[in-house]
Parts: sequence; structure tokens; C-alpha cells
Amino acid sequence: MRKTVKIVSMLMVLILFMGMLAACSSSSTGSKKGVSVGIVLPTKDEPRWVQDEKRFKEALKDSEYTTEILFSQGSSAKEKENVETLINKGIDVLIITPQDGAAAAAAVESAKKEGITVISYDRLITNTDAVDYYVTFDSVAVGEAQGQYLIDHAEGKDVPLYLYAGAASDNNAFLFFEGAWKVLQPKIADGTFKIANSSEAESLKDTAELSRDEMSKILGQVTTNWDPNEAKNKAQTHLTAAGADMKGNVAVLAPNDGTARSIADVFASDKAVSSYVVTGQDAEKASVQYVVDGKQSMTVFKDVRTLVTDAMGIAVDVLDGKTPETTGSYDNGKKDVEAKQTEVIVVDQDNVKEELIDSGYYKADEFTGLKE
Ligand code: BGC
Repeated sequence: MRKTVKIVSMLMVLILFMGMLAACSSSSTGSKKGVSVGIVLPTKDEPRWVQDEKRFKEALKDSEYTTEILFSQGSSAKEKENVETLINKGIDVLIITPQDGAAAAAAVESAKKEGITVISYDRLITNTDAVDYYVTFDSVAVGEAQGQYLIDHAEGKDVPLYLYAGAASDNNAFLFFEGAWKVLQPKIADGTFKIANSSEAESLKDTAELSRDEMSKILGQVTTNWDPNEAKNKAQTHLTAAGADMKGNVAVLAPNDGTARSIADVFASDKAVSSYVVTGQDAEKASVQYVVDGKQSMTVFKDVRTLVTDAMGIAVDVLDGKTPETTGSYDNGKKDVEAKQTEVIVVDQDNVKEELIDSGYYKADEFTGLKE
């Protein structure tokens, strides 16, 4: 009897010990210290970044590393706080899309001091050497695609051209505009387009390549700050000021989907605008529906799944002590940051189903009126 009790209690101790072992090993599958990879995204208010969160979560489902995603809600102060929180959780790699590319330098410098590897995600952090890698889409190609779409769909001469841009605190806004200007400028110079809403762009219309300062001047007049409301107000002001010669069939360079939809709504409600071609980017669901409905002409599809795979690929290489593969570099004002770049796809009514539904990116039942 006593022997049985002894065996049972020994067995219980063994079970307890094994349980403790299992608990230890499951908490160490991520990082010895807690979270291995910290991810900081700019805002939940734009579907673009919620899409990135979703794709990160899908990709991380089976990862052996622990990760945490935090949003900065459009505030550089909140972003700094997020980075500090993740540093305190013991991250080894930080993946971050800055709210403001220059302001984020301080946050990543404090991460770097702790020996954390910093990956700039989609937007480049500028003027600091505390960025190790940059994963990005080809942003100049995004702007070129938008400009080219307007050119391909312009009829005749003297087509009024309305220009809009992203936030000047985002390096990408310059890259998009640079790409668009590269293809549009010769067509402005040859009289296909006439600029409707920017005296700065008008005075630079014979300059093929704009300096950063010149672009800043134009952006100063036509920025949307990536804010659909600001875009709407600007478009309303521009159309109110425009004479009859700047209406009729018009072309609109809108920098992304959120701003494109609100700008498109304003142009659609002006009776003197008989037709408009308007660009976008991100393939946000609401804009895909706008494209299907003929309310937004195109969007540039940036497959976030690829960006997530690239960012996590670099992070895992770093965690495993390997050297990540890169395809080029970007000058951030302080250093050439090793970069991995992804191509983009132009989507309009003709290929929307093929590129976004048949490819498995979205489901058909998320939209109405899709044609076979
Ligand atoms: C991104 C775009 C996005 C924009 C506004 C840019 O940096 O590349 O995809 O639409 O920010 O959030």
C-alpha cells in the first residue's frame, strides 16, 4: 500500500515536472525574452494598413516566432511610444511603417541602441543611419502607371489636368509624384494636357526632372495629406475656382484610393464636368467596387502579401543569423538602405476580376456587378 502511494506520488511529481518542461519550451518557441518581431503600422483609419495587418496575421499563423502588431493612429508620438513598448518586450527585429518618415528617426535610433534590427516597411525612414533594410513596392512605377493611364485615356488636346499628391511627410508621396511627372510632363509640354489647379506646376511645366524642392512647392499646393476629407475640400475649392475651359472632359491624378474616391465624388457631382478619368492605388475594396461601377477609372494593385513575405523573410533571416537577400538600395539622406522591391499591377474594369478575384486576393461575393 505504502509502496503504491509512493509510486503514485512519484508519478505525480514526474507529470508535474513534464508539465513545467512543456510550459517552458512553449514560451521559448517565440523568443527567450517575449516578443521576437515587433510591427508598427501607421493607422487603422485607412483600409490599406488594415489590409497589411490582416496579411501579416495570415502569414504569421504558423510562425515559430512571436510577433506583436501596434498601430500609431496617425501620431508620431504614439509611434515612439509603440516602439518603446516593443523594445521593453525584448524584440530583436522591428518592422515599421513611419507615420512621418523624418520624425520616426528618433524612435528607430532608440531601437538600434538596443541592438534591434530595423526594417522600414513600405515607407522609408529618412535622415538616420538606424535603418537596416527597406521593403517596398516600386513607388516611382506606381506614379508612372497613374500618369500613363491618364495619357492613354486622354482624347484630343488641351485636356484639363487636376493634380493631387500624398503627404509631404511621406517619402513615397515624392516618389509617386516623380513617376507621374516623368510621363505627364512631355504631354503637358506638347499641349495634350493643361494644368488646372497648380500655379507652381504650371510654372514648372517645361522642366522634365523636378528637384525635391520643386516637387515640394507643387505638393504644397496639391497635397491631400493622405486625408480623404482634405482631398474632397481641395477638389471642391478647385472646381469652384475653375472656369468653363477647365471643365468638360478632364483628367485627375489622385494619389491613392482613399483620396481618389472622395475626389471622384466631387468631380461626378459637377454638372460642367462631362467626364473624368481618375487614378488611384492600393486596390482597397471600396475602390475595387468604384472601378467595377465605373466611378474610379483605375487603381494600382500592390500585393501586400508579397511585401509581408519579404519583410518577414528578412526578419527570420536576421533571427536565424543569416544575411538577408536584397535587390538594390535607397538613399535615405544619411545612408544607402539595402532594399527589396516589388512590382505593381495596373487594374481597371478590363482586368479587375482576373487580377483581384481569380488571383485569390479578394472573394467575388465581396463585390456587386462583377462581369465574367
Ligand atoms: C503608401 C500607400 C498609401 C499611402 C497612404 C503610402 O506610403 O505606399 O499605399 O495609400 O501611404 O496611407
